[in-house]
Parts: sequence; structure tokens; C-alpha cells
Amino acid sequence: MEAIDCITTRKSIRKFTDQPVSRELIMDVIRTAQQSPSYKNSQPWEVAVVSGDKKEGLSRLMIDLLATDTAATPDLAAPTSWPAPEQARIKELFQMRLEATGIDLSAPAIIKKAKRANFSFYGAPLAVYLYQESSLSEWSLFDLGLFAQSLMLAAHGKGLGSVPQAFITDYSAEVKEYLGIPATKRLVLGLSVGYPDMESSVNKLTTSRAPAEEITTWFE
Ligand SMILES: Cc1cc2nc3c(=O)[nH]c(=O)nc-3n(C[C@H](O)[C@H](O)[C@H](O)COP(=O)(O)O)c2cc1C
Repeated sequence: MEAIDCITTRKSIRKFTDQPVSRELIMDVIRTAQQSPSYKNSQPWEVAVVSGDKKEGLSRLMIDLLATDTAATPDLAAPTSWPAPEQARIKELFQMRLEATGIDLSAPAIIKKAKRANFSFYGAPLAVYLYQESSLSEWSLFDLGLFAQSLMLAAHGKGLGSVPQAFITDYSAEVKEYLGIPATKRLVLGLSVGYPDMESSVNKLTTSRAPAEEITTWFE
């Protein structure tokens, strides 16, 4: 797939087919993502690929913690407020999701339901976690973001779909313990990965972007 097409046609996928993803294919995607640039080529990224019974157990673990109202303690704290321009875009996204799926993400009762769907990895055959040593600087978080985007683009280029999910890092300590990831690492992002079910209405949603002129300042 041509690079520009790959970037512009990638979207978050929240419904997957039952088709399994081969180990070779996901390793190929990871290998491609490793070509991302990083500060001094430090490559501050580690990847956990979770499938089968292990993934089902992880899903149950998070759903049970949610059911008992266990407080979320992600390694990267969720933002509690946003500046006005970003808040307006979030509001627009929630409105679009409401129209496309009937799910009102701003309603507290719905958040629990939405989290359960996240914790089920939206039915994807693979859960992928990206993590790194906690002592690394903010630049390494930046690098991991580059890696995450490369991973999603490589997956898309190879016919897979994915969705990045902050929610699935809610119970980071428990997830790390379950996966045997040392407590010294920070769990930065989780993703669900599989073959996209493009018949599903949830995958028909295409999010908007602010005009480029709005985010660009020219100095001449
Ligand atoms: C860091 C990050 C965290 C996200 N967390 C979630 C999440 O927990 N659950 C979810 O369904 N989508 C999540 N998303 C997906 C965003 O909602 C999505 O990327 C955004 O609305 C733009 O849509 P697009 O990916 O289809 O272009 C996350 C995206 C990013 C980059």
C-alpha cells in the first residue's frame, strides 16, 4: 500500500472477524514498526503479544476488577481536564460516536459498558501491549508513540486492523503481574489487533480532523 494512502485510510477498528492472525504476520508488523526513529536510536520499546487462553484470562481479570469498582491506576495518568480546543474536538468525537453507534461516551453509566468492550479487546484475536522502563525520559514516551503509529500503519498495510486503547492500561499493576512484566516497566499503551470486520457499523465511523490552517502558523 502506498504510504499516503496507508496514513489517510487507517482508522480505529472496534470489531474484528474470527480469523486468527499468524505469528509470522504479527512479527512482520513488529519488525516494520522497529524501523521507527528514536532518540539516539535508543529504541525504548518492548512489545507483549497476548492471544488465546492467556488473552481470555487477561480480559476476565480486567472485567472482574471493573465489576468490583477497583480504582484505575494506569502508569500514565488519564487527563482530568483539557484546554478548550482539545476539549471541543473530544466533544465532537463523542457526538459522532453517539450518532454512529448510539453510545453516549459522556454518560458515566455508559463508560463502564464501554470499558467492558475495551477489556474484551473488542473481540480481537490479539491484544498487544507497548511498554518500557519507567526511568526513561519523556523523549522515550515520544519514541514509543512513534512506534505505536508505525505498528498501526504496518498492520493496516498488511490488511489488519487495530485500535490504540489507553483504557486497557487502567489496571497496569495487575496486567503486568499477570503477564510477568517487571513492575519497573511502565505500561504505556494497549492495542487490539485482528482482521477488521468492515461490515460492522462501528467500523464505518470516520473521525474528522481540524483544518490544517487551524493548527499551522506561518512565520515569513
Ligand atoms: C493514546 C490513545 C489512547 C486511546 N484510547 C482509546 C481507548 O481506550 N479506547 C478506544 O476505543 N479508543 C481509544 N483511542 C482511539 C481514539 O479514540 C481514536 O484514535 C481517535 O478517535 C481518532 O480516530 P481514528 O483512530 O479512527 O482516526 C485511543 C487513541 C490513542 C492515540
